Amino acid sequence: MRNVFGSNAYKFGLFGANCAGGMSLSAAPERWRADWDEITQVYRLADEAGIEFILPIAKWRGLGGKADMWGRSYETFTHSAAAGAMTKRIGVFVTAHVPITTPAFAAKAIATIDHVTHGRAGLNIVCGWNPDEFDIHGAKIDYARRYAHGLEWFNIYAKMCEGDAAFDWDGEFFKLRGVATDPLPVQRPRPPVMSAGISSAGRDFAAQAADILFTSLPNNLNEAPQLIRSVQQAAAQCGRATEVYTQTQVVCRPTRKEAEDFYYYFAEEQADDEALAYFRRQKLTTVGKSAGEYQHYQQQPTKHSVETAGKPYPGIFPGMLPIVGSPDDVVEKLKLLSTTGIAGSALVFLNYLSEMPLFVQEVLPRMERAGLRHPQTAARKVPAVASLER
Ligand SMILES: Cc1cc2nc3c(=O)[nH]c(=O)nc-3n(C[C@H](O)[C@H](O)[C@H](O)COP(=O)(O)O)c2cc1C
Repeated sequence: MRNVFGSNAYKFGLFGANCAGGMSLSAAPERWRADWDEITQVYRLADEAGIEFILPIAKWRGLGGKADMWGRSYETFTHSAAAGAMTKRIGVFVTAHVPITTPAFAAKAIATIDHVTHGRAGLNIVCGWNPDEFDIHGAKIDYARRYAHGLEWFNIYAKMCEGDAAFDWDGEFFKLRGVATDPLPVQRPRPPVMSAGISSAGRDFAAQAADILFTSLPNNLNEAPQLIRSVQQAAAQCGRATEVYTQTQVVCRPTRKEAEDFYYYFAEEQADDEALAYFRRQKLTTVGKSAGEYQHYQQQPTKHSVETAGKPYPGIFPGMLPIVGSPDDVVEKLKLLSTTGIAGSALVFLNYLSEMPLFVQEVLPRMERAGLRHPQTAARKVPAVASLER
């Protein structure tokens, strides 16, 4: 299988730091505010520590509620050009919304970032789910056909990256004339592509177009290997290889008790239940109609429910896997994920800047000792661990 971003058996990406709230549905005052100077500190730390990539979220409006998660967000192409220019090794993804970004715009913008970074750009293709966001652009999403739209978009983009002579395109969604771009991306045949489907249509899309699929894992982790194998088999049938990653919110503290207390505080006591209700309403009335595909939206606990084994608190984003505990606990869980066939995680922290140093200093060396990552000495150069107390 092609190994995107080097040869660590378990890879990490920093997810959502370009948006206020990151990926936490919490109104806790410690939450991420997406201050640009803090973002740059986090990215430099991740770069030095050998984290494989930065994955921003493309958002056009927030979720409302108490904290208006995502209400403030940096646009991802411009963000990642800047993030790439200020770092040395880390991969920088952009996130293109299919209904509002043309393939020709994406091809030129990605090539620009790939040249700026000498080959560190990556593309996350997103078909969209929240109609309120697209109203800002006057664009509509056809939910039944959105991944067909995405696949045609990808085919045009991929052909442009090949660098052939200018071509015309007569498809279902695009009628284009004289399509070509210069410069081509540095990475050949194109920068890595990821997508994040949870529906079967989303996973099929990934098998046909993506090098990495981010997906949510079944509540019962024993079912994960079968899910991962089915994606890999579908990709193999298209003559391709797709690695499967998942999204993890890490709540790590020196002791398990401290981690669990903090988790309870921000994800239960301070959960932004109004934002969660808005999110679920938008999902279930649009893409979530197909029964069975969106169990985690329906099963999301309501606030003040008693936590039962493995069930996340409502401040944890639907589909996100919380990993809570001491550094040893965190690594045990990541080892377990690795044995299911998961090849990496998009990492989320309530506050990236105050929580990353402990992760870098204590979790990464344990991942190395577990054989899941290669030794990375620069990681030790992190600043003193900032106060983790609330
Ligand atoms: C790692 C990850 C990154 C995502 N990035 C974005 C994004 O930047 N913008 C967006 O509108 N949706 C984003 N999504 C949502 C997905 O595109 C997708 O709609 C969601 O995972 C549900 O899957 P489905 O489309 O198969 O229903 C992301 C999801 C994940 C798990």
